[in-house]
Amino acid sequence: MGNKDKRIYTLPTKEEKFDLLAKKNSEALLGGGENRIESQHKKGKLTARERVQLLLDEDSFEEIGKFVMHRCKDFGLDKEHYLGDGVVTGYGTINGRLVYVFSQDFTVFGGSLSETHAEKIVKIMDLAMKNGAPVIGLNDSGGARIQEGVVSLGGYADIFYKNTLASGVVPQISAIMGPCAGGAVYSPAITDFIMMVENTSYMFVTGPNVVKTVTQEDVTAEELGGASTHSSKSGVTHFSCANEVECLNNIKNLLRYVPQNCEEDAPVYPYQLTDETREVLNNIIPDNPNQPYDIREVIEGVVDQDSFLEVHKDFAENIVVGFALLGGRSIGIVGNQPASMAGVLDIHSSTKGARFVRFCDSFNVPLLVLEDVPGFLPGTDQEWNAIITNGAKLLYAFSEATVPRITVITRKAYGGAYDVMNSKHIGADMNYAWPTAEIAVMGAKGAAEIIFKREIAAADDPEKKLQEKVDDYTGKFANPYRAAHRGYVDEVILPENTRTKLIKAFKMLENKVDKLPKKKHGNIPL
Ligand code: HXC
Repeated sequence: MGNKDKRIYTLPTKEEKFDLLAKKNSEALLGGGENRIESQHKKGKLTARERVQLLLDEDSFEEIGKFVMHRCKDFGLDKEHYLGDGVVTGYGTINGRLVYVFSQDFTVFGGSLSETHAEKIVKIMDLAMKNGAPVIGLNDSGGARIQEGVVSLGGYADIFYKNTLASGVVPQISAIMGPCAGGAVYSPAITDFIMMVENTSYMFVTGPNVVKTVTQEDVTAEELGGASTHSSKSGVTHFSCANEVECLNNIKNLLRYVPQNCEEDAPVYPYQLTDETREVLNNIIPDNPNQPYDIREVIEGVVDQDSFLEVHKDFAENIVVGFALLGGRSIGIVGNQPASMAGVLDIHSSTKGARFVRFCDSFNVPLLVLEDVPGFLPGTDQEWNAIITNGAKLLYAFSEATVPRITVITRKAYGGAYDVMNSKHIGADMNYAWPTAEIAVMGAKGAAEIIFKREIAAADDPEKKLQEKVDDYTGKFANPYRAAHRGYVDEVILPENTRTKLIKAFKMLENKVDKLPKKKHGNIPL
């Protein structure tokens, strides 16, 4: 060990940390010194310890395994050891609640994962599971430590295995705060939420050089696996953050909505009920049923002020998912988004919705569905890429969820999508519809063209006949009352009363107990 290890004990002041982030990549600010802290700061990155300090409540961090060192004797590593072996692990609190954390140190062998590095992570995951508290991984790693060979691969597998066992037991959150290559991406992928920092982080199984060799594609690291790619194209990441401070704040914010473990409920925040009528909701649905509107306006109108935390914002924008507070209690929201592709369900929106539903159900977060969906997206692209299997994921996820579940149909509930979007038939507890709801097998024009095809063709004026049939079908089905007569919809409510109804209904469902048939586990169509 030499001077390099100064990084462990020298920390910038709080003011300096924020300055450093604000002036990303500013070498002038940092001077020409080449110690390890500076090497991180020069890249616009904080060090592993700075991240932990910013994440946790002040003075709450307790480190575990500070003196661990690797055991590799090959390729000169017997002469190069660093205390902690490239990962800071321990526990502390966020807003007074216990969390376990690991933070990889890129300045030690590129944050690469050795046998001992892996053991440290596994140790805190075991503690987290036994003590029922979230695990937060701050990832900054070049993957398996190449010098260690199979031992480091084994270390990764040990972590993947623990991630899997911990899944659904305690919340697991991954922040990607630098390069994450090879095995370094698969542990985050198994966790519940991934955050990435724009411009300084990327994730890929194989980097641009390998891509070039194998597929002859020219692609930069940012294009291949940067935050914007994974938040919009692949959907691998749930939150794209402008900088590391925002990323760490997002983790803290996310934790506000979730319980410590699967046996507990999310925290309840003080809320004084007054008049909860929200007239603003009366004016959101346009007169023309084919005109778009932003489902976020409905969400904002329903939930506690400024409480909506959108997840996966830039991916599959035709569905909106996120957490919010309703009368001080955490709920998960899934809403079709008419402002994007008319809110149609496709492969990406189905998997996005399904994953969110399963998180909420794992961790006792009640679900609210806001439905305005014209159906599934037709076409070869969707069919050949398995909209059948992927759409079934959402259907399966809702059907299996045992948390309190409420649906509000704001406008269209057509076809299979009516069934899928938390219908009464697949176990929703309460189903409301606004007077603007249209519940039918399909839109009136399409329906009339199919079932009255011969009659229309034989008519003297086919156009007129079609319109008659469309009007007839619209009169019968473009309203919520047929479904309400059957009890598929429990009540037709005025938009302005939605919030009151939901607060009461979720309160009524507070002690819901619903058990699935005994089984080892289901077989969700993956
Ligand atoms: C050992 C590593 C390392 C690794 C980086 N370093 N990755 N040491 N094992 N995997 C070391 C470098 O030698 C260097 O040491 C220091 O970390 C910083 O690395 P740089 O390359 O200088 O940094 P940068 O230019 O920022 O590039 C970062 C990087 C690149 C993109 C991560 O280092 C890289 O491509 N690394 C290899 C990625 C990889 O292929 N990993 C194995 C994947 S296989 P010095 O001493 O010079 O400072 C895998 C299998 C698991 O993970 C599969 C499970 C499913």
